[in-house]
Amino acid sequence: MRVAGKMIKQIINLDKVSSTQTLAKEMARGGAAEGTLIIAKIQTAGRGQFERPWDSQTGGLYFSLILRPQKAAARTSALTIKIAETVCEILEKTYGVKSKIKQPNDVLAWNAAKKEYQKICGILTESATEGGKVMWIVTGVGVNLNNNLNKNLPAASIKKLTGREVDIEEFKKEFFSLMSARYEQWLMSV
Ligand code: BTN
Repeated sequence: MRVAGKMIKQIINLDKVSSTQTLAKEMARGGAAEGTLIIAKIQTAGRGQFERPWDSQTGGLYFSLILRPQKAAARTSALTIKIAETVCEILEKTYGVKSKIKQPNDVLAWNAAKKEYQKICGILTESATEGGKVMWIVTGVGVNLNNNLNKNLPAASIKKLTGREVDIEEFKKEFFSLMSARYEQWLMSV
């Protein structure tokens, strides 16, 4: 993937990992630089809020990004919402999928056939502070693009909703390009 947007400095692409989030946090603790992005095609132990499992079969987008904002305090909940807004923008403009943010960290997409909103993206933002200073933030994002989903979950993928295969590289490019601008906005607001 061509590095799109100013916020990404280094990309680590993995075929399979337990969890990009767990790996990114280890790397952040070990001093990995701001803008290090870890992407995996499959996660064997993807996780969400409250350690809930995050189904991570091939065809989805799973990544964690290490950030080190030079700020005394960081409103990470506002950063999570900026990410959710970016996903909503792409869903609507590029794929024609109606969506909404479910606070604090989900994006839901409208399934017209079922007449209900279903989860399409989850965001997990974790951070560490020392003496009131932010040491690192790791924000992990899972988006259901082409991946199969557990039938028992009220979840949707773009492919399921549109009937069309998503170009994962295009989605990533668009996401990081739009998100870089929102990251700058967030930096100025904290
Ligand atoms: C949630 O819905 O509670 C948040 C889900 C976050 C899932 C993403 S997938 C990439 C990253 N790695 C993980 O293990 N979790 C996050």
